[in-house]
Amino acid sequence: MDRLRIGVLGVGVQGNLHAQVLKTIPEADFVGVAEADGARRSKAEATFGVLGYGSLDDLLDHVDAVSICLPDHLHEEPTLKALAAGKRVLLEKPMSISTASCDRIMAGCPDPDALMIGQILRFDPRVIRARELVRAGDIGEIWHAKVWRSTSQAVGVGIWDRTSVAWFLGVHDADLLRFVTGQEAEVVAAIGRNVLSPGTEDVVHALLRLDGGAIATMENSWTLPHSRPSRADAGLRIIGSKGAIEVTLSHTDLLMVPREGNAVNMDTYFWPSREGAGASNLRTELEAFIRAAISKGPSPIPGSEGRAAVALVEAVETALGKQ
Ligand SMILES: NC(=O)c1ccc[n+]([C@@H]2O[C@H](COP(=O)([O-])OP(=O)(O)OC[C@H]3O[C@@H](n4cnc5c(N)ncnc54)[C@H](O)[C@@H]3O)[C@@H](O)[C@H]2O)c1
Repeated sequence: MDRLRIGVLGVGVQGNLHAQVLKTIPEADFVGVAEADGARRSKAEATFGVLGYGSLDDLLDHVDAVSICLPDHLHEEPTLKALAAGKRVLLEKPMSISTASCDRIMAGCPDPDALMIGQILRFDPRVIRARELVRAGDIGEIWHAKVWRSTSQAVGVGIWDRTSVAWFLGVHDADLLRFVTGQEAEVVAAIGRNVLSPGTEDVVHALLRLDGGAIATMENSWTLPHSRPSRADAGLRIIGSKGAIEVTLSHTDLLMVPREGNAVNMDTYFWPSREGAGASNLRTELEAFIRAAISKGPSPIPGSEGRAAVALVEAVETALGKQ
């Protein structure tokens, strides 16, 4: 096999980005989408020139692999179904919203290479370089760390009834901390505040201890005013015995200033440009998935790694008294 027939399940915000990238990857035959919402399905058919199906069952006959872009709480069942049909699966983060669910997914995945979890930060060149430096010992013994990710208040609206700020944003940071330091973390305490949504935390601060002895904080919120030019404020700072490393993951390097309305710092790393070409972390992630599938090679991010990030967020939710 030198090409991969692939489809996208769920063409909401993230599925549309996956579709846009898949159209431009030479080794991918992007054949169709499965989407429950008829209007979104028709729009995807027209935009990407592919067939739209109403359910995963109808899509599976036509593909070798599927990219699952359903809401966080709906990941388990379609992943198990696609794996049982012998397909390779790219599953968006978080792998699921409990370790029990992750365990069921892994139990239904006899070939661990068939499943990749879409922890996109692992494909960010800034993160990769930081990891190399930390793992090479350039900052020495890790003393303490801070990882944070906050978005515009617009992000939580519409999803806070089906996920949480810890699941939706914190899982990125849980994975980032493990990926860069190579250490496991335990949650010592967490506090949160409910300021915008009807009934869940909009801001969560967690205190962690890494297994090498370092202490860390993880801060997540979807509370930034929408008029803030950079609608994502994210990064990682690690202080060690020989030095420190600071990674800025906010959108800071392209400012769009309209004559009317607010100035906006635009993303230049994560998502494809309007034309879809060029480098982006999502493109690198999808290319890694496709190449591994074609070569029948190891999963670039196996379920065990997705589960470890889920376990950390689950511990945060437990510390908040929610699990
Ligand atoms: N990697 C990242 O940085 C990143 C960014 C945003 C979202 N995500 C993740 O991507 C996933 C999707 O998020 P989103 O914001 O695109 O959600 P969304 O609500 O915008 O889209 C989900 C789509 O799935 C469809 N759907 C739901 N159930 C279905 C079913 N059974 N069959 C077919 N279609 C169905 C919905 O109609 C909707 O169009 C989430 O897990 C989210 O955490 C990842």
